[in-house]
Amino acid sequence: MGNKVDFITSAFSTDGYPNHQFPEVAFSGRSNVGKSSLINMVLGRKKVARTSSTPGRTRSINFFNIGDRYCLVDLPGYGYAKVPQKIKDSWNELIDHYLHYRKNLKGLVQIIDARHKPSEEDMMMIDWLKATDIEYIIAATKVDKLKNKDFVKQKKKLPELLGVETDKIVYTSAKDRTGRKQVLGFIDSVI
Ligand code: GTP
Ligand code: MG
Repeated sequence: MGNKVDFITSAFSTDGYPNHQFPEVAFSGRSNVGKSSLINMVLGRKKVARTSSTPGRTRSINFFNIGDRYCLVDLPGYGYAKVPQKIKDSWNELIDHYLHYRKNLKGLVQIIDARHKPSEEDMMMIDWLKATDIEYIIAATKVDKLKNKDFVKQKKKLPELLGVETDKIVYTSAKDRTGRKQVLGFIDSVI
């Protein structure tokens, strides 16, 4: 992409957002689904957003300035069972607040695991997105882990399971960079 990428800040609470005019595109999804990895893949950088095989890596809202044009936002994951309820509540509150009140938010990449049925929380997010004005796509990721025949099956099933048009879903892999162009196309269309 050739853009300059700069980490701006981490917000641990609702008063920690940066004060700027850039349009923001956020990445949301279950803990460990691959949000941070997808951001890195889309940017073509290895280590912009921190990733980990242990769920719960991203604990704050992380803002990245992309070429002084727009901002990508890495959200903490939801649904990670192993953190204490108090911490879960605080993450959820932070995510909720960001999604509801952030004026700069122009688009959302909602990520699900291409291999599995969407979780209850995934469906809550998606149903909420359908009811708001926020532009979104659903990135079904980790497709590199699917055998071709299962990939074909999932592609058939997912639109109905999610209740969305086929073209709302982008199939991605941070490993082999599947879907990079489509995610970039979405970002371009909303910023
Ligand atoms: P939290 O910040 O903890 O909520 O996780 P996250 O959603 O940011 O996930 P992260 O990007 O840290 O990735 C979690 C794990 O999944 C890491 O071990 C990644 O290497 C792996 N991973 C992410 N995307 C892919 C993918 O497309 N294919 C494969 N094979 N592994 C992936
Ligand atoms: Mg993360």
